[in-house]
Amino acid sequence: MSTPPTRTLQSDETPQDIARKGYNAHAQEYLDWTTSKPSSRLTYLNKVLALLQPDSSATDGPHPPTSPPSPVHKVLELGCGAGIPVTLHLAQLPQIAHVTAVDISSTQLEMLRSNLVSILATEVSAAKTIAEKVELVEADMLELAFEEASFSAVTAFFSIIHLPREDQRTMVQRIFGWLRPGGYLLANFGAQSDDDKKAVAEQGNVSEVAAERTGEQDGQALKTGSVTKNWLGMTAYWDSFGPERTKEVLREAGFEVVVADIVEEVEDAVFLWVIARKPLASSS
Ligand SMILES: C[S@@+](CC[C@H](N)C(=O)[O-])C[C@H]1O[C@@H](n2cnc3c(N)ncnc32)[C@H](O)[C@@H]1O
Repeated sequence: MSTPPTRTLQSDETPQDIARKGYNAHAQEYLDWTTSKPSSRLTYLNKVLALLQPDSSATDGPHPPTSPPSPVHKVLELGCGAGIPVTLHLAQLPQIAHVTAVDISSTQLEMLRSNLVSILATEVSAAKTIAEKVELVEADMLELAFEEASFSAVTAFFSIIHLPREDQRTMVQRIFGWLRPGGYLLANFGAQSDDDKKAVAEQGNVSEVAAERTGEQDGQALKTGSVTKNWLGMTAYWDSFGPERTKEVLREAGFEVVVADIVEEVEDAVFLWVIARKPLASSS
């Protein structure tokens, strides 16, 4: 994702308001743009799927090589967008029993519903209809509530980045609870903290400093992060702890960080791709 000029966060709108409005109005532009670029999504998704084969809650040791996939895994996808490529891919996998696909944007979910109907109608087995396998939930991910240990995997591609960093920490903690022991979080996070961006800005490489960052001192998390005007036609809000602090946040929540790759995804945009495991011994 390229990094257009940013401005200080001054709006009374919450980051959720900004995301809902932006993706409701520009979901198609986002889809056209993102599908025109190479992406690491399925590479990392396939790594997690391999780790989950077969039901990895059963043992910590090596898995029998001949075990056929069984539809045991429930996946939560946060900020699913129009479902291309991840939700559609998950929906077609025999080992995936159920996908809870969450997005704050009704337009994104309408596009996902349409994509599921058109692409999967002939792909999913008759015994498992699309409606049964993929549940679409229009919600702010921060408002979600699930039973403890509900999911084998939680995925969040380019979505947690739209939350203020303290809310990112809250999401990581909640995801830990929603995963069953031995389950995995796959997500990407910003690879630059606002402190890094400020340093770059001061070197003259960015037109404006990103954010007022008094939030971590006075507890007002909404003051962190930055707002980009006219990104694919929309206003967008982003935040990041930066890679080192993000890994600490994951470990503080109880995760084992299995993969933490800094990847230049598109042009000059760099993300921290994380696969993190809830240990089998964890009680929550
Ligand atoms: C950059 S798009 C990524 C979409 C998709 N995951 C992908 O990889 O292309 C970010 C998505 O997160 C959603 N989103 C942003 N903030 C959210 C929130 N607080 N709760 C749920 N979804 C959110 C947006 O509506 C949008 O669909």
